[in-house]
Amino acid sequence: MLAVSFLPAVADAAHPLVVLAGPGDTLAGPAAAADAATGGALTRAAKAARFEGDAGTIVEILAPAGLACSRLLLVGTGKPEKLDALAAERIGGAITARLLTSGETDVQVDVGGVLGGELAAHLAHGAQLRSWQFNPYRTRLKDKQKPSLARLAIVGAEDAAAPFARLAAIAGGVARTRTLVSEPPNILYPESFVAKALDLAGLGIELIVLDDAEMKQLGMGALLGVAQGSVRPARMLAMRWNGTGRDDVKPVVFVGKGVTFDTGGISLKPAAGMEDMKWDMGGAGAVTGAMHALAARKANAHVIGVVGLVENMPDGNAQRPGDVVTTMNGQTVEVINTDAEGRLVLCDAMWWAQETFDPEIVVDLATLTGAIIISLGHEHAGMFCNDDGLAEQLRAAGAAVGEKLWRMPIGDAYDKLIDSDVADMKNVGPREGGSISAAQFLARFLKPGVKWAHLDVAGTVWSNKPGAVHDKGATGYGVRLLDRFVADNFEG
Ligand code: BES
Ligand code: MN
Ligand code: ZN
Repeated sequence: MLAVSFLPAVADAAHPLVVLAGPGDTLAGPAAAADAATGGALTRAAKAARFEGDAGTIVEILAPAGLACSRLLLVGTGKPEKLDALAAERIGGAITARLLTSGETDVQVDVGGVLGGELAAHLAHGAQLRSWQFNPYRTRLKDKQKPSLARLAIVGAEDAAAPFARLAAIAGGVARTRTLVSEPPNILYPESFVAKALDLAGLGIELIVLDDAEMKQLGMGALLGVAQGSVRPARMLAMRWNGTGRDDVKPVVFVGKGVTFDTGGISLKPAAGMEDMKWDMGGAGAVTGAMHALAARKANAHVIGVVGLVENMPDGNAQRPGDVVTTMNGQTVEVINTDAEGRLVLCDAMWWAQETFDPEIVVDLATLTGAIIISLGHEHAGMFCNDDGLAEQLRAAGAAVGEKLWRMPIGDAYDKLIDSDVADMKNVGPREGGSISAAQFLARFLKPGVKWAHLDVAGTVWSNKPGAVHDKGATGYGVRLLDRFVADNFEG
């Protein structure tokens, strides 16, 4: 990702220079200065390009006469009343997207007098988030395709350094998540997921790992039933961050679905698009990245991330449709469809987390159902919640960081849909309302009084097209949401 620095004044250099302008006819501040230095070329270029100052729109002049810079970019800020943290991030993302593979290595963004420190920090944050790419296996990239942009300097807002430090910690968590989500499934499997998380100890996170023998001992028959069709053994990973300096603070627990590859098992998925199921660990990836973010910025909160890691494969030992498994809390499940495996992993992970850590709040993230994509597309993740206050806290956190949530219903009538004639419940309901009956399944594994939200992130952890602050591919969805949820509600 881009390295970010803060300068008091523009350095005379042959790098791109970015100046900002909102809607309106006359340029001001650094944009006016650049316009004057170029003999009015910027005004003429803006007019020629029909530039109207919309947020993130760009007019670019190459090798402007009168300035040392290689390119002069005029970037729109949008209307001042709409220029909030998210808009600033979009602007930063647009600058990166324009220059990332341009051959330029450095860029200066002169925000002097236009953006205060907080917004300037968010601009840099958006630029940094947008610069992340995953290329380790592309050995034949042409030079022109390789990211060249390495450094961004914010000019004229030195008070941005402090807010940016916190955002950089969060971006580190986002990058970790995106890498986990992007790695191919022969590289990322339960054991290697754990191995890649071990360096979190360096941030002060305590790690607890359960192997399959220990999970068997604990009675996690649902999770292990999914794993038994794979040669890759399952793992449970807990990551604990206690930044409160006290040991009497009840933790917030995040639980993530970590299916490192989902073939569907014996209820095999169709071949077309099955490669996407490498990101069926997106919930676990988000939880892991959120723990990174919280620890890296030394959050004053007690938070535990738990991820249940399995591979869902169809070998001769795989579980069958019709099998009955016993979960850690003793409830039995008739496995109607081995492709509804996420809930089988989560129920044991959630129960173990509650038994072990005694939380007041559990939030799980899971790429749980295709049906949530039918409902909400890729704009919102689905939220299912048993507490209105918690739902509002999560909704607000998501809105603040641009990782939106839309609340979905739960209730007794939906719960009945997963009653079984053979066992305590079955692992699928009817096709209609499929995301809701999946949530109802999870709700059967809550201890009394625990406030719980389930975020179905199947539509948001991966994107087939670039967005404002991500390239196509892994979005890192969930990291900033969980970080903000903790920051706004548990750090007093
Ligand atoms: N991992 C999938 C859900 C999914 C589908 C995520 C598409 C992302 C994109 C999950 O394990 C699954 O297979 N769910 C089934 C449930 C069904 C068998 C009740 C589904 O959604 O089809
Ligand atoms: Mn599945
Ligand atoms: Zn799955």
